[in-house]
Amino acid sequence: MEWFLIFVSVAVVWLASLCKILHASFYPYQSSFLNNNAGSFQKRNVLLVIAHPDDESMFFSPTINHLTSRGHNMHILCMSTGNADGIGNVRKEELYKASATLKVPLQQVTALDHPDFQDGFGKVWNSSELSKIVEKKILAHAIDMIITFDNYGVSGHCNHRDVNQGVRRFLLNTSKQDIEAWELMSTNIIRKYSGPVDIWLSFWSANSSLKGQMHCLLNEHPFRSYAAMSQHLSQWVWFRKLFVSFSSYTYVNTLRKINK
Ligand SMILES: *[C@@H]1O[C@H](CO)[C@@H](O)[C@H](O)[C@H]1NC(C)=O
Ligand SMILES: *[C@@H]1O[C@H](CO)[C@@H](O)[C@H](O)[C@H]1NC(C)=O
Ligand SMILES: *[C@@H]1O[C@H](CO)[C@@H](O)[C@H](O)[C@H]1NC(C)=O
Repeated sequence: MEWFLIFVSVAVVWLASLCKILHASFYPYQSSFLNNNAGSFQKRNVLLVIAHPDDESMFFSPTINHLTSRGHNMHILCMSTGNADGIGNVRKEELYKASATLKVPLQQVTALDHPDFQDGFGKVWNSSELSKIVEKKILAHAIDMIITFDNYGVSGHCNHRDVNQGVRRFLLNTSKQDIEAWELMSTNIIRKYSGPVDIWLSFWSANSSLKGQMHCLLNEHPFRSYAAMSQHLSQWVWFRKLFVSFSSYTYVNTLRKINK
């Protein structure tokens, strides 16, 4: 009986949080993220730097949906084809399909197949080399904002963490002053699997931070995220279906500014 009550309570909180998110998608919640000081719209060229095909759909889709639905110009740089199991070419195609679902134009999506950046645990990615590749992209597409993993990289995967190091290296080295960078904050394991319920803690942590240093972005299209992840057919096994449904990263992203 008690277990039943606990189950019902959890289900009610879960659904209420999901309603809050869907409600926000009907009445877009006014985030000041990417508005200039006067609050007016300015179109930005944003580069998302990830490690493997499917990172964009599994972790960053609230951010991607937020930016594309506001007319910003989204680019994705994926540092590997995810070739750990020898199916890099398949996974690359899946990245393009998922990007199309997320409304990122195909010509703005790149999956590198570079000998120095191969998918896998224990493969160290050289941050100077990564920095140079990021720099080339930034110059080629007049990028003024970068979004990437934080120092823990959501799952602690070394490739995610090396991507953060490479972007930080780029920021220290670049002479461009007007470029800003944001990292996706990794949360603890309880928050990670609390699904939409995590929006409350995310709101609270972003709101109690220094003004403008953190932003909490709700996913206005959670079903689109699920659809994007399902384009990664080679990865679309039962535990990832569960992950996408129960992970807080499907519903909310908290971004923190990387200060140089
Ligand atoms: C990373 O690459 C640079 C050349 O771009 C090299 O000088 C440096 O030693 C490399 N670092 C490591 C840890 O291999
Ligand atoms: C640092 O910037 C210079 C000038 O843009 C560039 O030539 C060099 O490759 C950069 N080094 C790294 C590690 O990004
Ligand atoms: C954030 O803080 C401000 C005051 O600092 C408050 O007015 C606002 O309601 C808070 N928002 C949330 C979502 O907690």
